[in-house]
Amino acid sequence: MSSLSVLSIASEIYPLIKTGGLADVAGALPEALARENVAIRTLIPGYPAVMAKLESPTPVHVYSSLMGAPARVLAARAGGLDLFVLDAPQFFGRPGNPYLDVGGRDWPDNDLRFAALARAGADLGKGAVANYAADVVHAHDWQGALAPVFLHYDGGRRPRTVLTIHNIAFQGHFPAATLGAIGLPAHAMQIDGVEYFNGVGYLKGGLMFADRITTVSPTYAREIMTPEFGMALDGLLRVRADAVEGIVNGIDDSVWNPATDSEIAVNYSALRIEMRAGNKAALQRRFGLTVSSDPALVGVISRLTAQKGLDLLLAELPDLVAHGAQLALLGSGDKSLEEGFLAAAQNHPGAIACMIGYDENLSHLMQAGIDFIVVPSRFEPCGLTQLYGLRYGATPIVARVGGLADTVIDANDAALSAGVATGLQFSPPSAPSLAHALKRAFALYADEAAMRRTRLNGMRADVSWRGPAKQYAALYRTLARTDA
Ligand code: ADP
Ligand code: GLC
Repeated sequence: MSSLSVLSIASEIYPLIKTGGLADVAGALPEALARENVAIRTLIPGYPAVMAKLESPTPVHVYSSLMGAPARVLAARAGGLDLFVLDAPQFFGRPGNPYLDVGGRDWPDNDLRFAALARAGADLGKGAVANYAADVVHAHDWQGALAPVFLHYDGGRRPRTVLTIHNIAFQGHFPAATLGAIGLPAHAMQIDGVEYFNGVGYLKGGLMFADRITTVSPTYAREIMTPEFGMALDGLLRVRADAVEGIVNGIDDSVWNPATDSEIAVNYSALRIEMRAGNKAALQRRFGLTVSSDPALVGVISRLTAQKGLDLLLAELPDLVAHGAQLALLGSGDKSLEEGFLAAAQNHPGAIACMIGYDENLSHLMQAGIDFIVVPSRFEPCGLTQLYGLRYGATPIVARVGGLADTVIDANDAALSAGVATGLQFSPPSAPSLAHALKRAFALYADEAAMRRTRLNGMRADVSWRGPAKQYAALYRTLARTDA
């Protein structure tokens, strides 16, 4: 099998900078695809957190002006990754969240910042750097989505392109004036171009011109072609249906392995599952919950936004406590949700506890210590916390949407008697149906043998990148064989 070269374009990448699942995926794909003889190099913005970690950065391309700012492309390694880094301090030399200012508002020049990233990606794809050639340019989300657009309007020879939608709720929608500022021709401002509700749509344009479109689960691939989930892009996706494919995410099982994880209190595996108990106790102590193996310990690790449906859980907390269960929550986001959970913790000391914030290390101890991870999302392209939960024996309770539907096998009677259940699903994403799922979870917890079996099934499920990596490799190879 000949080696293939892929340039991935991502606005965040684990372990350098992360706000959500995109970083995990961008960070894990290169190693997973290396086993398929695909060499992935990733172009990322030179945020301060990234610049600080680069090993032997070497300038390989210089722009006197890129979207109005001086910029260079550096070749570097960091965190075990082969990178191109867009060093443009005027755009990316800002600490903290990659997309938001300290007040939590989008940076006003996000159009220029991520047009610059995509422009650099298109240039690298066309051979701007000596001794580097990409067979395929793979852009992620709206931040990378203009790369196929630039390659289209540039004309001439170009590599093949893939655009992956990690979340169609984020579309990169800007005023019409952006068009000229980012160097797209006037005729791009049309329905068959980047025009989107009288402005410029980055994701829309990418969906128009990418050779192939992927999203992060088969169910989400179907859902986004419907008005209910498509967020106004469902029509375009239906037109491009032949180019759309859902490939479920995997997890990096060297980072997420309870047998070797250095962030948890006691290492364990499916063969030593009783060792897990030490993590539950450690987590209860850490959160100030009553330390006891008796109560079912339910956990949440999440951005607190409407997507994640945690308002539904908030409504069910009195019931959860009445059932004698506990809740540990790690998350941050909408102030009203943060306040709601903090108030619940105050009302139920010992039974409900919250850590408001982002803590990568603590998220590992949580997966090792909780009995159930609850993900009541209204929509969920893939979701990773339920996959980490499966691997760690934290049984998922999930809404039956998107990747949650594809990765958890509901503990209904048939699945339990066949011995294949890995968690609980509920539908629709509403408070009563979540309440019903919690009741089923507590009944399962009370049945020690069934609970143990469900936990072990989850731990033994293949949630690795091995299968998905083969699908990406096949996609890249098919594309590379066809002419642009
Ligand atoms: P999304 O990308 O929509 O936020 P995913 O489930 O795909 O959802 O990925 C979320 C990632 O971010 C997971 O790796 C999860 O563990 C992590 N995460 C989310 N919130 C927190 C938090 N407050 N602290 C630590 N990790 C978090
Ligand atoms: C997005 C989605 C999430 C998915 C992640 C990685 O952030 O919200 O469901 O797991 O991208 O693909």
